[in-house]
Order: sequence, then structure tokens, then C-alpha cells
Amino acid sequence: MPAIVVVGAQWGDEGKGKATDQLGDRVDYCVRYSGGNNAGHTVVVNGERYALHLLPSGILNPNCVPVIGNGVVVDLDVLFSEIEGLAARGVDASHMVISANAHIITSYHQVIDKVTERFLGKARIGTTGRGVGPAYADKVNRIGLRIQDLFDASILQQKVEAALEQKNHLLVKVYNRRKIEPAEVAEHLLSHAERIRPHVVDVSVLLNEALDAGKVVLFEGAQAHHLDVDHGTYPYVTSSNPVAAGACVGSGVGPTRIDRVVGIAKAYTTRVGEGPMPTELLDADGDKLREAGVEFGTTTGRKRRCGWFDALVVQTAARANAFTDIFLTKLDVLTGWEKIPICVGYQVSGVRHDSMPLTQSEFHHAVPIYEELDGWTEDISACREFDDLPKNAQVYVNRIEELCSAPISGIGVGPSREQSIVINDLL
Ligand code: GDP
Ligand code: IMO
Ligand code: MG
Repeated sequence: MPAIVVVGAQWGDEGKGKATDQLGDRVDYCVRYSGGNNAGHTVVVNGERYALHLLPSGILNPNCVPVIGNGVVVDLDVLFSEIEGLAARGVDASHMVISANAHIITSYHQVIDKVTERFLGKARIGTTGRGVGPAYADKVNRIGLRIQDLFDASILQQKVEAALEQKNHLLVKVYNRRKIEPAEVAEHLLSHAERIRPHVVDVSVLLNEALDAGKVVLFEGAQAHHLDVDHGTYPYVTSSNPVAAGACVGSGVGPTRIDRVVGIAKAYTTRVGEGPMPTELLDADGDKLREAGVEFGTTTGRKRRCGWFDALVVQTAARANAFTDIFLTKLDVLTGWEKIPICVGYQVSGVRHDSMPLTQSEFHHAVPIYEELDGWTEDISACREFDDLPKNAQVYVNRIEELCSAPISGIGVGPSREQSIVINDLL
């Protein structure tokens, strides 16, 4: 039975949450494998809107076990407030499980995230300020704290002291901030220990046994291919590996067990934070897309930068993640344009590129080459079959499929669970 990975094909906010939720009660385990509460996944069920940051979207289906893998960085305050917020709305999260190896985001990671961004000035990344980057930096630097450290108070105290030793010098002498007391941090973290303890499991054992037993495991990506620290538009990226391969690393499930990789691509392009985005529209058209698509960040409320669909961006993700399927979201947002451009190439210093250029400098200077397709005016939000779509919308979808070299298996025509067209069922 299948293990499916859902991955963002652009710069995030493609609608991964909705795509995950839509597979519904057929999913037995829904796994977050990378990132932290920098993610914001919005799911609309029966007119109710849920914004999830750490818990996988599978939480909204009562039969699905929500899993937080070792690859995630966890802010325990956020986790528990998310669980409480859901409980207040009648959603039970008590069956959530978490890896003992997942790293912890502490208050000092958040402080460092914010001060380093301020220090970078114009060169800032535009992070979400949640402490995600500094927590991953500590992990790689081998001075991170893991969930299992909460169960040994003296080890935790030692590790917090070690992690803060250099940081306090930096904070006080370079950033002109006050010193952070290790004992206070350790005490706060320890206050979560007994609450998290019953949720801690060996995620690798759990998921491999589930797959052996024929269960359906869905890995819900956060962020996206082009925000990946290895494959994205570095340094304007997040600090983890959102790509499909990250699902294996971040959960302890081997690559040969993955059956399908579903790329989630918006029918146009958005990006939050800094970094190159060749098709960005800085004029009234960009504002029109933002309004129609309600393109404001789920996590920070920031305006999302908006532009036309960039086929080179999605094609790159399709190749590197080996997409078996694409779920094209928010097609309804494009209703009402007379012409809809698709970026099919770039001009860089007078040279045409049919795929993303080799270097970041070239990408920064990429000028899109557009192909213009005819738009449609009909409201498509009630369409449930491909053939219900206006002819021009069908042509648009078919052209994207051709350019991105992966079959489009689903189309989003609205934010609600049922507002989708299923072309090939994923399960
Ligand atoms: P994620 O981070 O990839 O899960 O995406 P977000 O939830 O941050 O952003 C996607 C936004 O688009 C959310 O507000 C969704 O409710 C909404 N959405 C998802 N799919 C569709 C769709 O097909 N049409 C429309 N109009 N909205 C959608
Ligand atoms: P979902 O899962 C969109 C962006 C930030 C910033 C960069 C680094 O909802 O698609 P970070 O706080 O991770 O160090 O910020 O990455 N970013 C996202 N953009 N959607 C996300 O998640 C994002 N998570 C991080 O805006 O540019
Ligand atoms: Mg989002």
C-alpha cells in the first residue's frame, strides 16, 4: 500500500494542506518531515478555516494518526497551543506522535533569528522569525536540543549551557542584547517534559510497520522545492530539505518504500520573503492576482509576491523530486483574465534559457519569455470534472502539463475540501 509524498513545487503556499486533507480518511498516518512552525497550511472544512503550523493536516481526519518526524524542528509552546486551539474547536490531537530525535526550537533561536535578520539589513532573507534557521544551524553544529533531552534534566541543563555559551557573547557584544539565562530556558523546556512524554515514539519503527501492514502513509511537505537549502534559491531559502527525499531523511523510511510523489503547484506563482522570482508582477496585475487569490501569508500575514506561472520553476521541481503527479491548485483565481501568460523560458544577458540557469547570479537577472494563452470568464468553482471546465481553462492546464513533464492528477477550483477536480485518484 502506498507511501505518498506531497511536495511544494514553487516557493511555498501552493495549497499542500488542502491537497493533503483532501485525501481524507483514506490516509492512516500523516507525517510532517521537515521545517517547523514557519509553515502555515490552511484547510477549509464545512466552511470552517483551520490554519496549521506544526501538526500535519491529517489531524482534521479523525482516523488519521498525525506524526511529527525527526526532521522537524519543534517549538513546544506552539505545538501545545495548536493542540489546545484544535481541542477548543472539537478536533482531538491526543493521538499525535513525535520522534524522540526531533530538534527543539527555543526562545534563543527566535531571538537570534530576529536579530540576525535585522543585522543583515537589505541582505535579509525575510524569514518568518520563528527560530527555524538557528535551530537547524545548532542541529548541524551538533549543539542542538532534542525531544529526548527533555527526559534527563541534568543533560538538558548542560546542553542549554553549551548552546548558549557562544550565543550569549554574540548577543551581548555584537547584537547589544541582554544575556539569556540557561537555567531559565532549561526550566521552561522541562515544564513540557511530562506532557510530551506519552507522545514520543520511534517514528521509523512505527511507519515501517504501518507500511508492512498495508497502511497508507502520507508525508506532508512544508515549504517547497525552491526553498530547499540544497536545491532552492540559496541563500533565500529555508534551512531544511522540503524536497521529497527529505521525507525519507526526516522520518526514517527508506526511498524504495515511496510509491508516489505529488507536486503541488499553484496555477500562478507566489513567494513570501526575499529572493529572486522572475515572473513577479510589481504592477496592478500583481495586486489583482493577490486580491483574487487572497495571497497573504498564513503564518506572518505578509503580502505574498504574485506573478504568472513559471514553467521552468515547476519543471525543475518535477525532475528533482521525480513527481509522479502534479496537483494544480487555485485555477479558479485565474478566472476573468483576457490573456494568461505562462513563462516558458528566460532571457539572461541576451541568451535564451529553456531551463533554470546554472548560477544564482544568472537567475537573479532572468527575464521571463512568455507564451500568452486565452483566458476564460466562467466561474469554475463548481466544476468537478475536467470536461466541466471552459475550453480555454482546459487548454491552459494541458499546456502546463506538457511544459512540466508530469501528469496533472488533480485541479483545485476553490479553498474547500470538495472544490477539486480529480483526474487520477492518488489512492
Ligand atoms: P500550503 O502552505 O501549501 O498548505 O498553502 P497555504 O494554506 O499557505 O496557502 C494556500 C491558500 O489557498 C489557503 O488559503 C487555501 O485555503 C487556499 N487554497 C488552496 N487550494 C485552493 C484552490 O484551489 N482555490 C482557491 N481559491 N484557494 C485555494
Ligand atoms: P508553507 O509550508 C512560504 C520562507 C520565508 C523566507 C524563507 C526562510 O506554508 O508553504 P524561515 O523562517 O524558514 O527561515 O524563512 O522561507 N518560508 C515560506 N514561504 N511558505 C512557507 O511554508 C514558508 N516557510 C518558510 O518567507 O523567505
Ligand atoms: Mg503556507
